[in-house]
Amino acid sequence: MSYLLKLIFSVAISLALCQGSVIQDGHRQLTRTQLRLKNSNAYIGYNRNNFSSGKRIEPTEAGVKAAVDSGLIKPDVETIVIIHGQYANDTDTDIVAIKNAYLRSAEYNVIIVDWRLAANMGDAAAFSFVPIIAEGVTEFLGFLTTGDTPAVATTKLHLVGFGLGAHLAGFASRNLPEKAQRITGLDPAGPRWDARSGRLTTTDAQYVEVIHTDGFGNKAFGIEEPIGHVDFYPNGGKHTQIGCPGHEQLCSHRRALQLFEASVDAGRANGLIGNSCVDMRQMTNNQCKGRTLEMGGLDIIKFGSGIYRMNTKRDYPFF
Ligand SMILES: *[C@@H]1O[C@H](CO)[C@@H](O)[C@H](O)[C@H]1NC(C)=O
Ligand SMILES: *[C@@H]1O[C@H](CO)[C@@H](O)[C@H](O)[C@H]1NC(C)=O
Repeated sequence: MSYLLKLIFSVAISLALCQGSVIQDGHRQLTRTQLRLKNSNAYIGYNRNNFSSGKRIEPTEAGVKAAVDSGLIKPDVETIVIIHGQYANDTDTDIVAIKNAYLRSAEYNVIIVDWRLAANMGDAAAFSFVPIIAEGVTEFLGFLTTGDTPAVATTKLHLVGFGLGAHLAGFASRNLPEKAQRITGLDPAGPRWDARSGRLTTTDAQYVEVIHTDGFGNKAFGIEEPIGHVDFYPNGGKHTQIGCPGHEQLCSHRRALQLFEASVDAGRANGLIGNSCVDMRQMTNNQCKGRTLEMGGLDIIKFGSGIYRMNTKRDYPFF
């Protein structure tokens, strides 16, 4: 879309937002647009019985109960909730590939969040709707993790989000009564997400890991600063990632998805290992020689903190 079209679109969205009509939703009022977007989220559950056919889980107590009763959600296994980024939906190739990597490796409940309506609205609108979309996700996760016999224990809950979806995962978990065990932020969106924006941060889950692949430069899609307990910077965390043709920035941004997929796919043989850096300068200069740490991977409980760098190979699985 041209810049002008995007601008017109954003203005149209803003106008729609300011439209007088407000609707009561629980304890407070939402605009018609906010409510429509929040209610348009879909949650698609997958398990090992059939990789390719997901089933929608309604974000209600009855919906979660039906998913448990039908065997779609198994209460004893870990639950991975994957959240796509901007200009995408649940069929995003790399999101689907991460889902498949999990299901190949062991028994998991994998749930893909589809928030395509807001995700396709243009930069300003998509950014501004992240909190309201996340509110829908929090409600859904609430039905999964609370109640007399919770379908899912928060200690077995791992949220994985890409781009805007990384911040969405942060908002969604931070507002739960008990936060998720682990969040993996895959090249979290940079533009507009300054320190006061409510962006993904360490208090959003027991453990927050971030993989930066397009974090530097004024047009970067990702974020430069370390924001998690642990922050990995493959190949320096910036475009152009090795193996990305020409100066394809989107390729570098999306590399975070593929690196994470590779780490899941490799299971116990995950060869994506970073070295700890003293500071960002050392990271940028490729001089990190500190202790080693696995990036991504299957373990729901992870330890280790700080800044890590690794240099990858150019092709999947990149090690
Ligand atoms: C998986 O689901 C699809 C779509 O519902 C169906 O066509 C296919 O037969 C299923 N495969 C198996 C192995 O059950
Ligand atoms: C879903 O996203 C893909 C790109 O990842 C796009 O090609 C497709 O048209 C989208 N589907 C819908 C129904 O919007």
